[in-house]
Parts: sequence; structure tokens; C-alpha cells
Amino acid sequence: MSNEFTVQQLLERVNGTRQGEEGNERVRQFTARIVSDLFRTIDDLDVSADEFWAATDWLSRLGGSGQMGLITAGLGFDRLLDIRADEADRQAGRASGTPRAIEGPLYIAGAPLSQYETRLDEGEPRGEVLVMEGRVLDENGQPVAGALVDVWHANEHGRYSHFDPSQPPYALRRRIETDAQGRYRFRSFLPPGYAIPPNSPTSELFEALGRHGNRPAHIHFLVAAPGQRLLTTQVNLPGDTFIDDDFAFATRDGLVVTLEPGTAPQGYESLGVTGPFTRVRFDFTLQRALHEDESKPLARMARVAG
Ligand code: DHB
Ligand code: FE
Repeated sequence: MSNEFTVQQLLERVNGTRQGEEGNERVRQFTARIVSDLFRTIDDLDVSADEFWAATDWLSRLGGSGQMGLITAGLGFDRLLDIRADEADRQAGRASGTPRAIEGPLYIAGAPLSQYETRLDEGEPRGEVLVMEGRVLDENGQPVAGALVDVWHANEHGRYSHFDPSQPPYALRRRIETDAQGRYRFRSFLPPGYAIPPNSPTSELFEALGRHGNRPAHIHFLVAAPGQRLLTTQVNLPGDTFIDDDFAFATRDGLVVTLEPGTAPQGYESLGVTGPFTRVRFDFTLQRALHEDESKPLARMARVAG
């Protein structure tokens, strides 16, 4: 057998298996497709060797930086998966509930757990005082008691705890269990928008693409309850410059909340509120789970880690 190959023969070798081996069929299918698409890209765009090795150097630095999840969001993959999930729901005739929105790359599991209410912020107020409150409901509009609302948002500089080592562990991250009426509430402050880290593999790509890396102000949620499908979503704060120009494409029309500034503190004393504050009311409506896997309170990486 000759060791001189045409491109086609080379592709067949790349995608061939060792004698008597099958490998993982799904992985082989993906690899065959992606490698042949890239071979074609290199041909069609006449990619030079220097360009190719510059790209692999960038990918190595990207992997080393842990910013892969930032790139997938900015290139639209996270929203694509949501568009596909929405379409699958439509085709299956599943009740839609609260719109899903991307998890993003900045979740961590295990935030402190409270019943009904909690503060996300610690110590001094760091912006306009926010209380967000509402209920978790099922498809029929009935309250879901004992649902877990896992909430996280960026600090006053747009950075997330854990990924920003200057913040205490689990800062601005909490889990809240709904009460018998399905209610939750928390105090925090109105977060600002977010921007991708400067001088990073991510910012390099977005500069080269002539795109910005900004997200409008938002608050993330995973909402879980037995028998209900896990809801991954975010709410967006109105008035942000980037509300219709989110680099991660995560903003959705049904998720822009209404701010109620100047709400009186009566009834919110247990959250340490002493003066007028901004209230946001928002109910989450969950879909009924069709199988147990759908209701597991697991974020995306925990889910794939099995
Ligand atoms: C990214 C950051 C976020 O805070 C988010 O919610 C989604 C995506 C990102 O950097 O890609
Ligand atoms: Fe975010």
C-alpha cells in the first residue's frame, strides 16, 4: 500500500479505525464531519501554514485560559442550543412556561441554601438596593413548594465570584427553597452589565471580528423541583445600552423585567431594608418533566460529567 495520499485518501485514513476496533461511533461521526469541513475550509480559503498554526496557538491559549465557554456563547452556540430546544418543545406540543435562556460559563454549584428569603450581597450596600420576589409555578399555574431557585449575578464591576478571586466564596450566589405558597425572595443590588475579560484569548477574537464583548445587566437562575423540568434562565434589567445588542445572544423579550423603584420598605424588614428600594416581581413557570433526567437540579457541566 502506498503512503502517498490524495486529500480524499488522507481523510479516509484519518477517519479509519484500527483493525478490529470500532471506537465510539458518535465521536467518529463528529470527527469525520468536522475534519472534512475544516479540510475544505483550508482549501477554499487557501489558508496558509502560518495562519493555521496561529489558529492552533490561539486554541491552545483559549483552552489554557478556561474561556472556552465564553467563546461558545459569543459565537452563538449556546443560543443555538436554546433555539433548538424551543423548536423541539413546539414540535412536541410541550407547554412553554418561562422562556429558557443560556446558563453561561460562570455558574458554580453548591451556593448557600436558605428557605424562602435571603440576601445575595454581604455587608455594605453596593448599589441600588434590589429585592426580587415571586413564585415558582407549574404548568397549571399552581405554586410549587420546595422548589430550588439557584441565583447568581455579577458584582458592581461586572465580575463573577469564584472566577474573580478577589471576591469571597459564593459572593452573589445563593440557593433559595420556595415556601408552601411557592414563594421566594432575595435582596441584592442592581448589577451592572458584563464584559469579557480584556487581554484574553476571548477579547483577541472579538477584536479581530470587530465585535464588542458586552452583555446587558442580567441575573441568572436555575429553577428545579421534583417532577418539574429544570429551567435555566436569566432576567434582564431594562434600560441597559446593550439590551438589544447582547454579545452572548442570551437576552429574550419575555425576560426583561419591570423595575419598581421607590418601593416602601414595609414588609421587607427581615431583609434589612430600611428605605425605598427597587422591587422586581417575577414568577417562574416550569414545564412538567417527562422523565427523571429532565428534573435533575444539575448545571450543564455536572450534567455531562454524568
Ligand atoms: C458570558 C458571560 C456571562 O455572564 C453570561 O451570562 C453569558 C456568557 C460569556 O462571557 O461568554
Ligand atoms: Fe452572566
